[in-house]
Amino acid sequence: MAIRHIVKKGDEILGKKSKKIDVINQRVIELLDDMAQTMYENNGVGLAAPQVGILRRLVVIDIGEGLIELINPEIIEFSGDAVLGEEGCLSVPGIVGKVNRPMYVKVKGLNRNGDEVEYEGSEYLARAFCHEIDHLEGILFTEKAESITYIE
Ligand code: NI
Repeated sequence: MAIRHIVKKGDEILGKKSKKIDVINQRVIELLDDMAQTMYENNGVGLAAPQVGILRRLVVIDIGEGLIELINPEIIEFSGDAVLGEEGCLSVPGIVGKVNRPMYVKVKGLNRNGDEVEYEGSEYLARAFCHEIDHLEGILFTEKAESITYIE
């Protein structure tokens, strides 16, 4: 495992759409391992592959309830009133913003064994799913934020 360099806002790669994973090979497994290690090392709660410079549809999330890895994740259901809440991003240091996200989402994708998996998330976990999946579309939270606060 290795800690990877995190790409920062301003790098055009963060604005690009990521490609689906067709084959889960050793490189994909290593990338998932590295992404988790990189997220934990930087005290993040989520990381998407474009943030380590790779335009592939992979995300890792851990909001303190255990590691979730998703390959080709998709939001398949969402409900509830939009909730305005604070977000930050390892690619956007020094800035937090208030973003509207659904109260609840259901997400499907593949795990590292290639099995289809589904997760449900409310509140902060729903927010994390939406934020990370947005990265795969080349969208940063700052583009959706209602307000921005500089913290450094
Ligand atoms: Ni982010």
